[in-house]
Amino acid sequence: MRIGFIGLGTMGEPIANNLRKAGHELTVWNRTPSRADHIVSKGGKLARTPRECATGRDLVLTCVSDEAALSAVLEGADGALAGLAHGDVLVDFSTSGARAAKAVAEEVARRGARFVACPLLGSRSAAEQAQLVVVAGGSAAARERARPALHAVAARIFELDEPEKAALMKIVVYAVGNAMVAALGESLALGAAGGLEPWRIIEVLQASSFHSPLFLMKGELVERKDYAPRFKLSLAEKDERLVEEAAADLGVKLALGEAVRRLFAEGVRTGRGDSDVAAVAELWQRAKKP
Ligand SMILES: NC(=O)c1ccc[n+]([C@@H]2O[C@H](COP(=O)([O-])OP(=O)(O)OC[C@H]3O[C@@H](n4cnc5c(N)ncnc54)[C@H](OP(=O)(O)O)[C@@H]3O)[C@@H](O)[C@H]2O)c1
Repeated sequence: MRIGFIGLGTMGEPIANNLRKAGHELTVWNRTPSRADHIVSKGGKLARTPRECATGRDLVLTCVSDEAALSAVLEGADGALAGLAHGDVLVDFSTSGARAAKAVAEEVARRGARFVACPLLGSRSAAEQAQLVVVAGGSAAARERARPALHAVAARIFELDEPEKAALMKIVVYAVGNAMVAALGESLALGAAGGLEPWRIIEVLQASSFHSPLFLMKGELVERKDYAPRFKLSLAEKDERLVEEAAADLGVKLALGEAVRRLFAEGVRTGRGDSDVAAVAELWQRAKKP
């Protein structure tokens, strides 16, 4: 397929690379053009604008930070929407929430094109190994068009009929993951205050029925104090904001979600937004001992 790909960040770059390796003809656009160098050196084309990237493609894919970034690449005279023709399919891999999924689907439909919200689950290394889990929400015909590209990047594809349901599924599942990261940070700090080393706590935790690859992955980062971003705290905080928005829209009161959002917001406020989400573990270390 001729694919237009917009957004070559932590996740977008390896996803685009796997599409190229699978033999798709790739045109890319990124706000910071140098992040396209690797793809271009391997034969991908660099578009001058999102509109050019989206024009004349079998499939247009976006993978950017949040709703504001999505609006920035879709809207305006140079935006990707202006490049869509009747019958085209736009797939958004970003975690942008149910409100944005609904609004973008309506905007795309007004142009006679079709939209699939396709949020990602998985880390950068899962993206590099084409082992992502994706939740594709859109009409059957639009999902059919997207499927070859999704198979090139994901190990599991879950399908739903509506974009906003896929967006909701992603944040519902990530709310669990974010709460697990917060719980791990809190427990490591409590254990450390009583003289337990982090690796011993993780060892016992992993032998218990609560074990999780997430605890191992993030626990090792906390142990090494290695907070280079695999999944930025600012993006996790954004996900929790989307959880809060969904809860407000659906009339559900969340206690844990609000606590996690406050914690992540404090992490961002104290300058850790560009660090890995595991850096929230440091927030407890700042608390004074009695
Ligand atoms: N990282 C993970 O483990 C992970 C896992 C699952 C889902 N996700 C989701 O996947 C999406 C991408 O995450 P990521 O980790 O790849 O983020 P990232 O590394 O921060 O990359 C963000 C991308 O969005 C672009 N962007 C941001 N603001 C923009 C704007 N105003 N206009 C145009 N482009 C803009 C960036 O362009 P520049 O290069 O110019 O900054 C970059 O291409 C997010 O929605 C995230 O929540 C991430």
